[in-house]
Amino acid sequence: MAVSKSVLLALLPLLPQASAWGALGHETVAFIAQNFVSNSTRAFAQALLADDSSSYLANVASWADTYRLTTEGAFSGSLHYIDSLDNPPTSCNVDYERDCPEEGCIISAIANYTIRAKDTSLPVIEQQKALKWVIHFLGDIHQPLHVENLEVGGNTIAVSFNGTTTNLHHIWDSNMPEKLVGGYALADAKAWAATLSTEIITGKYANASASWLDGIDDTDGVKSATVWATDANARVCDVVVPEGAESVRGAELQGAYYDAAIPVIQLQIAKAGYRLAAWLDVIATGGTKVQSRGMGIMRRPRVYGGEMKEVRAITESENLEPWMLEARRVRRAFGWNCGAEGHEH
Ligand SMILES: *[C@@H]1O[C@H](CO)[C@@H](O)[C@H](O)[C@H]1NC(C)=O
Ligand SMILES: *[C@@H]1O[C@H](CO)[C@@H](O)[C@H](O)[C@H]1NC(C)=O
Ligand SMILES: *[C@@H]1O[C@H](CO)[C@@H](O)[C@H](O)[C@H]1NC(C)=O
Ligand SMILES: *[C@@H]1O[C@H](CO)[C@@H](O)[C@H](O)[C@H]1NC(C)=O
Ligand SMILES: [Zn+2]
Repeated sequence: MAVSKSVLLALLPLLPQASAWGALGHETVAFIAQNFVSNSTRAFAQALLADDSSSYLANVASWADTYRLTTEGAFSGSLHYIDSLDNPPTSCNVDYERDCPEEGCIISAIANYTIRAKDTSLPVIEQQKALKWVIHFLGDIHQPLHVENLEVGGNTIAVSFNGTTTNLHHIWDSNMPEKLVGGYALADAKAWAATLSTEIITGKYANASASWLDGIDDTDGVKSATVWATDANARVCDVVVPEGAESVRGAELQGAYYDAAIPVIQLQIAKAGYRLAAWLDVIATGGTKVQSRGMGIMRRPRVYGGEMKEVRAITESENLEPWMLEARRVRRAFGWNCGAEGHEH
């Protein structure tokens, strides 16, 4: 273990740059979920993904960030986030009707691809893509700046991290998790996931994790995803920009800011993995009689036993204030990728 870790670290400069709630974050979320899914969910996912390896979810966790850069997948760029038109740090909130524009958003996408992942009338390739999107989007929706419109989700707030100029969105996606873990290889994700899974079972999250599945409605993807988005969005007001954007713009954030952010990053990654496990159980078992035992402690989500609600086509809200229309225009003009070279939203 010690040897392979040091070999990995020696190779780091040769590896491609990490991207988005970066490969490290997404793979860690996936490994945590692997630790908690039921055996039948594991069998379902391994069969659909045609991967019976010990990293079957982690292997596809970042696929969506590659796919959206292709011509075929370009439409999916807007599905990695929801631009909440709230007013941090004074007030934080997510309003699906207000915030999900006609091109769709992460909440409509989770709902849509949840249904498609278990729709056996679709070509297998579409079912596979749907499952890969769900695995990825459950990660993204737990990154506070993926559920916030302010300054294009922090992409236009230039900051410095360990002397390197980057932006606020990017340090939440990658720099801060990578500094904590000390790398971004698959093995680093697996080790971080093991640590966080232990915290969930017997450690600092053991009590709180019982409530992390509250709000899951296994017949309603929009409702469930809105609960997760609202949870992450609240951190924008109390941790991401507690004193507003200007207080961090241009600042070096490796010190006190990092120290305050790290517990939130760990918590959000842990919640994302735990909730992903429960949601995959919902998908794999058809929405009824969910048995999320995993390592033996996961509570059952509430079971309503009905069919999953279809997602309506999104209609753009007609009740937006002028500043909201402008914020949405700025986001569309900016595009779907973040500003730092080689690092995507
Ligand atoms: C799930 O699979 C594991 C490993 O294959 C096995 O040890 C365990 O008994 C299984 N659990 C159930 C409930 O079948
Ligand atoms: C911070 O920057 C210094 C100087 O460039 C470098 O030696 C060090 O490894 C960096 N630390 C991290 C955690 O990236
Ligand atoms: C969890 O709750 C129990 C009972 O209230 C308490 O004794 C224990 O210290 C708590 N554990 C943690 C890690 O907070
Ligand atoms: C659901 O996903 C499919 C495939 O990507 C897409 O064609 C369709 O427009 C989506 N529906 C909604 C309501 O988002
Ligand atoms: Zn993403």
